[in-house]
Amino acid sequence: MLNIALIGCGRIAIKKHTEALIQNKDVFNIVTVCDIVKEKAENCASILEKRLERKVEIETDYKKLLKREDIDVVAIATDSGSHYEITMEALGAGKHVLVEKPMALSTKHADEMIKLSKEKKLKLGVCFQNRFNPPIQELRKKVEEGAFGKIHYGVATIRWNRNEEYYKQARWRGTWEKDGGALMNQCTHNIDLLQWMLGGEIEEVYGIIKNFNHPYIEAEDFGGAIIKFKNGKIGIIEGTTSIYPKNLHEKLSIFGEKGTVIIGGLAVNRIEEWRFEGEEGHPFMNLPDPDTVYGFGHVPLYRDFYESIKKDRKPYISGEEGKKAVEIVLAIYKSALEGKPIKTPFDFSTDYLKGMNLK
Ligand SMILES: NC(=O)c1ccc[n+]([C@@H]2O[C@H](COP(=O)([O-])OP(=O)(O)OC[C@H]3O[C@@H](n4cnc5c(N)ncnc54)[C@H](O)[C@@H]3O)[C@@H](O)[C@H]2O)c1
Repeated sequence: MLNIALIGCGRIAIKKHTEALIQNKDVFNIVTVCDIVKEKAENCASILEKRLERKVEIETDYKKLLKREDIDVVAIATDSGSHYEITMEALGAGKHVLVEKPMALSTKHADEMIKLSKEKKLKLGVCFQNRFNPPIQELRKKVEEGAFGKIHYGVATIRWNRNEEYYKQARWRGTWEKDGGALMNQCTHNIDLLQWMLGGEIEEVYGIIKNFNHPYIEAEDFGGAIIKFKNGKIGIIEGTTSIYPKNLHEKLSIFGEKGTVIIGGLAVNRIEEWRFEGEEGHPFMNLPDPDTVYGFGHVPLYRDFYESIKKDRKPYISGEEGKKAVEIVLAIYKSALEGKPIKTPFDFSTDYLKGMNLK
C-alpha cells in the first residue's frame, strides 16, 4: 500500500482520478486532496469519503503536503502550465509523480522533469490513459506482432467541439502560458497514440495552426500536420475543437502492407475497420461510447503506476513516453510560427507563440 495525495481537484480529478483512487484502494491510500480553492478540495474529499467510508484530509497549499514524510506519491491534476513547477518540487521532495497530460509546455521543462526523476530514482508517469483503451491495446498487439508487415502511414483525426462556455470555465484555458490550444490540450492523446503505433522518434514536422472561430482564446482551435518519422513512416494529424454543432469523433487509422485498422467512436473506443490476411472484423466493433471522452483508462493507469514503483520498473507511460506527443505538438507550433518544416532536435515552448496571429 502506498500513501498518495492528489493536487488539483477540478474536472478531471473529480471525473477520473477519484474513480481511479477508489478502484485502486487496495494499493493506494488517498491521504489528502489539495486545491487552492478550498471548496474544490472539500468536494473532492467528500466524494472519496462517501465511497471509501473513511476520512480524507484536505489541503490548500501543496508545498505543505510535499513536506510530509508519510506521502509516497502525488498525482497532479492542476492546469497544464503548472505541471512542470509542481512536478519538480514534488520530485525534489522525494515523491513519485503521476502527472496529467500534457506533462509540460516546453521541451526544456519536459527534459528537466525526466532528468530529475532519474537522478532521484523516482517514478514519473504521465496520464495518456487512452493507451489502455481495449481497441488500442488490440491494435498495439498487432503492431508488436508485426501483423501489418511494413506500416506505411497513420492518421490521427480529432473532430470535437468546445464552446465559449467550456473555455470560460477557467482562465488558463486556451492561453499560451498555461494550456495551448486544440492540439496541446484535446489532441495530445491521439497524437500520442499515433506516434506510439508508428514508432516513436520524429525527424521532421510541418504544421499549420489556425483559430477559426474561438476569438476569445489566444491559442489554436485547428491544427494540421505531416510528420516524417526517422523510420520512414508518415503521420498525418487533423485536430480541431470547432466542429459544428458538437463532438463528432476521434479516429486513429493505421495503414500497412498487410493490414488496415481504423479505430473511431467518440474517443478512439470502437474498432471500425480491422483487416488482416484471414481476419476480417473484430469483436470490439460494437463497443459503446464511454460516458466522457476521457474513457476509463485512469483506473489501469494508476494500477500500473503502483506496480512500477513496487517492481522498480518504468511506468507504462513514463516521462520519456509522455514527452513524445508534447514534442510533436511543439514542433507543429514552431513550424506554424516559422512557416517551414522543423527538424529534430529543437527547443521550443508555447511561450514563444504569444502574440501570434492565427487568423
Ligand atoms: N487525461 C485526460 O483525459 C484529461 C482530461 C481533462 C483534463 N486533463 C488535464 O488535467 C489538467 C486539469 O484539467 P481540468 O479540466 O481538471 O482543469 P480544472 O481547471 O477544472 O482543474 C484544475 C484545478 O487545479 C487547481 N489548482 C491550480 N493550481 C493549483 C495549485 N497550485 N495547487 C492546488 N490546486 C491548484 C484549480 O483550482 C482547479 O480546481 C489539465 O492539465 C488538463 O490538460 C486531462
